[in-house]
Parts: sequence; structure tokens; C-alpha cells
Amino acid sequence: MRIEIVKGDITTQEVDVIVNAANSSLLGGGGVDGAIHRRGGPAILAECRKLRAGHLGRGLPTGEAVATTAGLLPARWVVHTVGPVWSSTEDRSALLTACHHNSLRVAAELGAESVAFPAISTGVYRWPLESAAEIALAAVRETPVVDLVRFVLFSDDALRAFTEARSRQP
Ligand code: APR
Repeated sequence: MRIEIVKGDITTQEVDVIVNAANSSLLGGGGVDGAIHRRGGPAILAECRKLRAGHLGRGLPTGEAVATTAGLLPARWVVHTVGPVWSSTEDRSALLTACHHNSLRVAAELGAESVAFPAISTGVYRWPLESAAEIALAAVRETPVVDLVRFVLFSDDALRAFTEARSRQP
């Protein structure tokens, strides 16, 4: 499994799966979520609404992942996952790990070979970049179920955090 770390906009990535840093409502938001729905078009939200009307009536739990169409995005699917909000008193790293494991599991079940991840939880959810990068890279390495994982970072700080985390890992 190849792991790439690039700076860019996840909504332009030509991969099988683009992972969305969603919230449990699945009804959109800001950041990556807003960009994906804006660029992907209404088909994505329509499928999210169907999920909410069905087995995800109470929303998508933190750490879980679910796939929808990618709409107008250059991907085949969007896998929505809900990252944990950063807490300085509670260790929620297992939930951030689960986001990556479950997103890759859902992608592999669909037959996806390439997956693009944003830096989940590091925006509105305030997870420190260095810690998130270490957790994300370790989690992906534990789940070699696709050919390519591409971390798509939106800032130089995030790019540096992921690049340095990778250089520290075996
Ligand atoms: N491409 C790649 N990365 C992006 C993009 C983009 N187009 N837009 C933002 N990012 C980066 C941010 O810079 C941050 O590093 O994605 C990372 C995750 O930030 P958020 O999108 O804020 O996601 P998160 O911190 O997980 O918070 C999720 O924010 O947008 C709402 O609905 C969402 O409630 C949920 C919460």
C-alpha cells in the first residue's frame, strides 16, 4: 500500500474514494464537509438524507464511516466519517483511529483501490496537527486494504505535521 502526503484541495483528487470529515448529522457543515457538498452537488446530500431517514436515524456515531455517491466530484464515492472533538482531559485517540480504520474498511468493501483523506478533526474539532498526523498514519498502516492512501492537506502547517510524522515512523 502506497501512502502519499500532498498539499491540495481534497475535492479535486481523482481517486476512488474521498473521505469527508463530517459531523454526525451528515447534513453538511463547513471546512471539508462544506467543500465536498459544494463541489459534489446535491446528490450527496440527498443520499445523506436517505441514510438519516433509514438506519442512521440517530446520526452517524463518532468514529464510524458510511459511503455515498461522490456526485460531481472526480471520485466514485465519498466516505463520510465523524472525527472526535479534541479534549485536553479525555484521550479520544481511539476514535480518531477508528475513523481511519472504518473509512478504509468501507472503501475496500466497495472495491476502491485509492482513498484520499483530509486531516480529520484538525479544523473545527481542534485536534492538534502533530498528534492527528501520528494517529492517522499509524491507523492507515494498520489497515493495508487498498493500494493507495493519499493524505491531502490544506495548509503548510498540516503538510509539515504529516511529513514529519511519517519521517518519525518506522
Ligand atoms: N481539502 C482538504 N482539506 C481541507 C479542505 C479541503 N477543501 N478544507 C478544509 N480542509 C482541512 C482543514 O484545514 C483541516 O485541516 O481539513 C481539516 C479538517 O477540518 P474541518 O473540515 O474543520 O473538519 P473537522 O475538524 O473534522 O471538524 C468537523 O466541521 O465542517 C464541519 O460539518 C463539519 O461539524 C463538522 C466539523
